[in-house]
Formats: sequence, structure tokens, C-alpha cells
Amino acid sequence: MIEQIKKAAAILREGGVVALPTETVYGLGANAFNEKALARVFEIKRRPFFDPLILHISNVKWLDNLVIDVPAATRALIEKIWPGPLTIVLPKKNIVPDIATSGLSGVALRMPSNETALALIELAGVPVAAPSANLFGYVSPTTAKHVEEQLGDSVDMIIDAGACTVGIESTIISFMNDTPTLLRPGGTPLEEIESIIGKVMIPKREDFVNHSPGRSEQHYATSAPLLQINDIKEISSIDVNKKIGLLSLEPIDKSILPSNIEAVECLSKNGDLREAACNLFAAMRRLDDCGVDVIAALPVPNTGLGLAINDRLYRASKK
Ligand code: TXA
Ligand code: MG
Repeated sequence: MIEQIKKAAAILREGGVVALPTETVYGLGANAFNEKALARVFEIKRRPFFDPLILHISNVKWLDNLVIDVPAATRALIEKIWPGPLTIVLPKKNIVPDIATSGLSGVALRMPSNETALALIELAGVPVAAPSANLFGYVSPTTAKHVEEQLGDSVDMIIDAGACTVGIESTIISFMNDTPTLLRPGGTPLEEIESIIGKVMIPKREDFVNHSPGRSEQHYATSAPLLQINDIKEISSIDVNKKIGLLSLEPIDKSILPSNIEAVECLSKNGDLREAACNLFAAMRRLDDCGVDVIAALPVPNTGLGLAINDRLYRASKK
């Protein structure tokens, strides 16, 4: 692996684009100080330039170079959670190119816990800007194969370090205002964050996009439309001629299901929300790939990682 990491680090330094593993999802990485390389990331992803990138660092020493000030609460939070699935947004210094932040005055920063990612960033010697390595609007990749399928032809290298262990993107907290604000629920439970820094503001869904450009609804979409249902009985409201893929938190007794259910994906054997988050995107892709007309998703509890799962399901349903 170290040879691969060295090669990837050289590609990054030279302005190339590398797909890299993180504990959350695979990222599409480029040297954060190389504007041309960043432009290529947007192009490869077909991502609009108004949707900024997260800068990944391997050492907290980078903070003072990249942001104007790190408030005490932010420091307390990152001390506890980094390296890990948490992204913070703070006022940026001029060294951070505007293209990385889409012209916003804040920059998003994260230290991933995946060993390969940390080694790569360290060897590259620069922060690595990386959005999720999927085409804009589609479900994020949790394996190298997912990346290969969508972006294989357009990246300079894909590092395969196996399946992501968290499987859902980082939680994003903005410290741009006096009250810390949740921009995206994700792999670090909100409860854990609030136990360290106190109450976090949660914008109303319709206000999310004012805080974070990438929060526009319509995201994480599968090709087949996704319908959120409250319970299994609601299946009967779907046209009987439609082939349905069912997404369920826990195992489900198949004998009670109508015959137009083609496939069932159960996210966790015992309803564990961490396991469910880890399996979510791969399960959505599998249902999509088996050619169903509609994916019906049962709800999960809105606690712990359930908040992030429900957020992704809600947004996938808004296509
Ligand atoms: O777990 C993750 O966060 C993964 C891995 C690869 O690190 N990355 C990821 O990146 O999910 P992306 O680009 O797919 O999603 C980042 C989100 C976007 O919705 C973007 O709008 C928001 O973060 N964001 C990035 N920079 C921001 C900023 N300066 N201010 C507000 N929101 C920002
Ligand atoms: Mg993404």
C-alpha cells in the first residue's frame, strides 16, 4: 500500500486528481492550493462551481495557516473527535483559494481517521480538497469499485483500501456565527457533538441552502425514484405494476410482502444505526442496479446516526 500512497502523493503534488478512501466515503482529491487541479475536480464530478469543497488535513498544525481563528469550543470539539467524521467551517485566510470555497468567506476542514488517507495527505504535504467521489447529485461511493464505475476513466488514480467503515459523510458544523450550526448531519452523532459544545442550531430544511450551498435538496439520488413510506402497509399505495425495491432498517418477514417487491435490502440485522449507516449507500446502489421502478424506504429512528440516514433518504426522495 505504501508504494501506492507514494505514487498518489506525487500525483497530487503535480496537480493530478486521485480518488482516495476515507472512513466516511471515497473522496476525489486534489492539492487544495492548486486552482487548476480544483477546477478539474469540479469538472470530473460535474459539480457546479457554487458548491464548495472540504479541505482534508493530516495535522492540526494546518489550522493556523488556513483559518483566521479557532474558537475554544471548536478546539474542544476537534480535540475529541478528530481524526474522524466531523467537518468544521471557520473564517478562511487568503491562502485558501476562492475556488475551493466557492467564494465564501468560510472554509470547511476535516481530519479523516482512515490511515491511508492520513498517510497520503501527510506525504502530499498540502491540504487535500476532496468532495465525495461520485457524479454530482448521485449517492456517495463507499467502495473503490463504486468510484471506478462512475469516474474510472477521468481520474489519474484510484486507491483501493476496501469498504469505508462509517459509510456516510461527515457531520458538518459551521462556526461562522456565534451559535454553532449543523450544516449536514453525518457520521458523528449530533448528541456526541452537543455533549462537548452544548446546543447546536439546526436550520429549518428550507433554510439549509442559505448556510451551505451543497445542501440544496435533490441529492444522493438513485436513478429509480425513492419514496419514503411510514410503514409496510403504504406499499399498497404504489401502482401494482411497478417493480419495487424495499429498503428496511431491520430484517423483514418476506412472506407478508406483496409480489411486486422484487428485492429487499435490510440495513442491519438487529437495527443498529451505525451498521445501517455503513450499509446505506451500497444498499441503495444495489436496489438501483437491479432495475426496480421505485425504491420504497421505511423510516429509521431519528437518533444517533439515524438523523443522517433519514436526511439522505429525504433528499434522495426529492429528485
Ligand atoms: O465525509 C465527507 O465529508 C466526505 C469525505 C470525502 O471527506 N466529503 C464530502 O464532500 O461529503 P462533499 O463535497 O460531497 O460534501 C461537502 C459538503 C457540501 O454540501 C458543501 O456544500 C459543504 O460541504 N461545504 C463545503 N465547504 C463549505 C463551506 N465553506 N461552507 C459551507 N458549506 C460547505
Ligand atoms: Mg457529496
